Amino acid sequence: MKIVVIGGTGLIGSKLVNQLHEHGHEAVAAAPNTGVNTLTGEGLAEVLKGASAVVDVSNSPSWEDAAVLRFFETSTRNLLAYEADAGVGHHVALSVVGTDRMSESGYFRAKIAQETLIKTSSIPYSIVRATQFFEFLKGLADISMFGDKVPLPPVPFQPMAADDVARGVRTVAVGGPVNGIVEIGGPEPFRVDELVRRRLASLQDPREVIADPNARYSGATISEETLAPGNNARLGETRFEAWLTQPAAQIPSAHAQPAGVPVVTEEIESRKKAS
Ligand SMILES: NC(=O)c1ccc[n+]([C@@H]2O[C@H](COP(=O)([O-])OP(=O)(O)OC[C@H]3O[C@@H](n4cnc5c(N)ncnc54)[C@H](OP(=O)(O)O)[C@@H]3O)[C@@H](O)[C@H]2O)c1
Repeated sequence: MKIVVIGGTGLIGSKLVNQLHEHGHEAVAAAPNTGVNTLTGEGLAEVLKGASAVVDVSNSPSWEDAAVLRFFETSTRNLLAYEADAGVGHHVALSVVGTDRMSESGYFRAKIAQETLIKTSSIPYSIVRATQFFEFLKGLADISMFGDKVPLPPVPFQPMAADDVARGVRTVAVGGPVNGIVEIGGPEPFRVDELVRRRLASLQDPREVIADPNARYSGATISEETLAPGNNARLGETRFEAWLTQPAAQIPSAHAQPAGVPVVTEEIESRKKAS
């Protein structure tokens, strides 16, 4: 089965391409540095020839509100149009658990727009919504800084290892389209502030994490339910303590710009002014 992975050079994409190869599929990593650009359409017609499924695990290089919206709208429109021409029978996209509950956030408005384009297109689809990646916890601290402290809402979430995200996306990609949403998450619930504190401690990062019920997440007000996966979520196996012993956990930041939650400069600036 030929499966094209858009964003196949990224954190999840590179793991997904490897896993698909290991399971005997023809997986093609598509990204600007392999000659495929979903914003311009460059290379798309070629790479989609003979593909049974396309998995979109790309992310916007900029998370400024207008830029991220432009990225997900333009790239998704282009992809779906080229897929229709190529006769692709399954479009899979990676989104975030709680996306529809965070429309106050520019990043999540862009993910909602991506999901809406997919749902209203003629291509059979599956949307996989994952919880936050363990690899992203330090990035979450970085973007939540207020002065020299890290205020975070003490709400439940159920983050997961990037390897398990790739596994969850692979299972959906090789199955038939569900024409709906599949949620995936980690095996254990935590509170956001608690786990980021533990992650920073594991890196000997001295920043203080403060439980602040009013702290926003990516610019959105969140409640106890916002980030929690539903009862039907498929859960990965990797527990946080086990992940901490893996080589990936020794790298402070898995990639330069953490995905999933953008830097919300205006929010940080307005909070600074308010203090
Ligand atoms: N972080 C989280 O906790 C979290 C949780 C749930 C879901 N997600 C979702 O997971 C997805 C993937 O995240 P990630 O961390 O794996 O991303 P990532 O490591 O930042 O990788 C992004 C990929 O997108 C590619 N890309 C950028 N612009 C492109 C373009 N114009 N055309 C084609 N490809 C392009 C990049 O290629 P280059 O390297 O060549 O630029 C790279 O391969 C995102 O959609 C995010 O919303 C994240």
